[in-house]
Amino acid sequence: MITKPKGTYDILPKESQSWHKLEDTIRKICHLYNYKEIRTPIFESYSVFHRNATDTSDMVTKETYDFEDRSKRLITLRPEGTAGVARAFIENKLYVEDPLSKLFYMGPMFRYERPQKGRNRQFHQFGVEALGSSSPLIDAEVIALGTSLIRSLGLKGVKVKINSLGDEESRARYKSVLVEYFNNYKEQLCEDCLVRLEKNPLRILDCKVCRNKGFFQNAPKIKDYLNEDSKKHFQLVTAALDKMQIPYEIDDNLVRGLDYYSHTVFEIEVDIEEFGAQNVIGAGGRYDGLIEEMGGPKIPGVGMAFGLERLLLATNLAGKDLNKKEAIHIYFIALGEKAHEECLAIANVCRIGGLSCDLDYLNKSLKGQFKDADKHNALFTCILGDNELEQFKINIKDNTTDEQQTISLYEVYPYVINKIQSHSACSTCKDRKE
Ligand code: HAM
Repeated sequence: MITKPKGTYDILPKESQSWHKLEDTIRKICHLYNYKEIRTPIFESYSVFHRNATDTSDMVTKETYDFEDRSKRLITLRPEGTAGVARAFIENKLYVEDPLSKLFYMGPMFRYERPQKGRNRQFHQFGVEALGSSSPLIDAEVIALGTSLIRSLGLKGVKVKINSLGDEESRARYKSVLVEYFNNYKEQLCEDCLVRLEKNPLRILDCKVCRNKGFFQNAPKIKDYLNEDSKKHFQLVTAALDKMQIPYEIDDNLVRGLDYYSHTVFEIEVDIEEFGAQNVIGAGGRYDGLIEEMGGPKIPGVGMAFGLERLLLATNLAGKDLNKKEAIHIYFIALGEKAHEECLAIANVCRIGGLSCDLDYLNKSLKGQFKDADKHNALFTCILGDNELEQFKINIKDNTTDEQQTISLYEVYPYVINKIQSHSACSTCKDRKE
């Protein structure tokens, strides 16, 4: 048997409805905040993600799926959405159409990580990117959008952690004192942090191995090295969050795993025991240098991404069932070949008219077909036997009221349409009306 690659999984029909529900909720929230969808390729040129030799993030150095295509072009499966969106933004000159692009995306990402609960090699992200504004208010808007999503999903025990990495000048000052400080503890740093000390000392603060060592607690804090502009930016972000009554916690050690951030960085955590180390469900920040670094104009950006698997897991663990059973409008039960053919034709007319229908293709007994009508939560069951067929009649049962009638074969569609006008609470009928 051929099996799926490690770290991937199938979304089976019984789970796909909860994905649709989550995706619908995300689309609604993006509409409320006026973010428009962008779809970029799942694979990009290698250089979109591998931008410079000083990048120390695990994602870029250890986790990308890189390969040569048949023409020997170096390709990378996207490990995240931001760089691909930045590439598309520059290539399509979106900044010419509009000084501010508010974009969102959803789709699969690929990282060669050690698989565990909430961590896969193919996973899905929903992300937003706002390109063109350096206003601290839009940093706060992005965080607000994230918390709105959390609220819509009914998740509790969620924490927003936030920090500022300041602008380039502040970071340069901070880096030099940080290097000086950690140089004193070189022999205690882990192997990865020794590399980080050379390439990107800020990332040492993010190290899960060194974080618990004694010398770590007294390391200099970035907040003490922010220049006035950076301090002001951060103050305005937190003031806007306060004004919107969005609770947050300032975390001095939060630097994030990716190298493109400046100013605001944040993570959204859930307090769920089963999640263990994978309790960050969403994260993001400002990246004012990325568009220029990728060959575009000097345009600032801020964004955020959520892992959809983690959102679904958290929603399930919170006892919310997004996976409500889907109902169909009509299940046709036919007795005999001719009746089956007739039912298929009527079902097709109903389907063209927007009603979801199904019938048996496995020669099931009458009992088996009734069971299927039940299994598919049919709102109506139509039963057609030889006698009815001779008279161009069909039996129809409204399963929500148990009312039964014999109507003409031609009446099935208008009969059901008429009836469902009164099924206002039923989502199958509501979806059709919308
Ligand atoms: P990230 O923190 O690398 O940020 O990923 C964002 C979210 O994706 C994580 O919080 C997590 O929920 C989910 N995630 C990451 N890796 C995995 C995995 N292997 N399995 C399951 N879920 C995963 C970014 O990707 C940035 N592009 C976010 C951003 C957007 N910053 C600015 N704009």
